[in-house]
Amino acid sequence: MKFTQQYNATKKDVEENLISFIDHIAGTPQKTIFESMIYSLEAGGKRIRPVLLLETLKMLGGNYTSGLAFACAVEYIHTYSLIHDDLPAMDDDDLRRGKPTNHKVFGEAIAILSGDGLLNSAFEIMSDEILKNNSAGSIKAMNVISKCAGINGMIAGQIVDIESEGKTISYEELRYLHSKKTGALIEASVIAGAYLAGADEKEIDAVKRYAQNIGLAFQIADDILDVVGDSKDLGKNTGSDKENEKSTYVSLFGIEKARLLAQECLEDAIKSLDIFDSKNRVFLEELARFIVLRKN
Ligand code: IPE
Ligand code: IPE
Ligand code: MG
Ligand code: MG
Ligand code: MG
Repeated sequence: MKFTQQYNATKKDVEENLISFIDHIAGTPQKTIFESMIYSLEAGGKRIRPVLLLETLKMLGGNYTSGLAFACAVEYIHTYSLIHDDLPAMDDDDLRRGKPTNHKVFGEAIAILSGDGLLNSAFEIMSDEILKNNSAGSIKAMNVISKCAGINGMIAGQIVDIESEGKTISYEELRYLHSKKTGALIEASVIAGAYLAGADEKEIDAVKRYAQNIGLAFQIADDILDVVGDSKDLGKNTGSDKENEKSTYVSLFGIEKARLLAQECLEDAIKSLDIFDSKNRVFLEELARFIVLRKN
């Protein structure tokens, strides 16, 4: 199967299952929370994290159905992070996934609660799956996701991002910021897929190096697209970083050097997959290329 076809097929599996995990009781007093969570989940998006989880799991021969629950949980966590990232107190953005941001439609209070709801639902989904299908791999998967989404992972990156506004930071600090705010959840998705497939230590080390490189490359590409991208393709407004005086790869190095650094990550990511069968690793290699060359 060609890369795009395979990507779209896996994405479709995720999208067909995404909402089914919400314990949605019609007519309940809290119905607005469901509407608001579903609004952001169904707005679209590339679904790159769940695709990464499922494709890593497939490369290593894991059980796809059990993986779907974890893949959807990761997309819930990512969607919560976007809703909170767009709030006026954070990046103050009005457009996301081609639609008005959650707080623009539902108001700030509901948007905050909706993010809280998505984060908690992710842990319900994963722990329900562990109760059904108890395995060491699934417990390790939830553990790595909780750590990478948490205060030494994505939240660490978001804090440093906010505290670096209007300042010039060093390359080491910027690399840290990017590897945490965006890299951590990408890393968690890949490693969780590997754990669910029962990967050994050597395989975990290899996919971790792959994920760290594509995670960093993903955020470098995001910084570049904020300057040269098309808002229609991206589904979000460009120029937000400059307006908020963010520290980015573009603000520190300029576009050309940022592209070069993303390319270096791509090469290292592809090298990391050497230990896997050349046929089985093709999709992850292509996905790494897509991350660097993407337009959205
Ligand atoms: C946007 O993530 C936020 C970052 C971490 C850079 P994506 O570019 O994956 O957003 P969607 O899910 O496709 O909307
Ligand atoms: C967002 O980074 C990272 C998280 C949501 C954790 P950005 O602030 O650069 O993402 P965009 O550009 O708004 O999508
Ligand atoms: Mg941000
Ligand atoms: Mg933002
Ligand atoms: Mg950005």
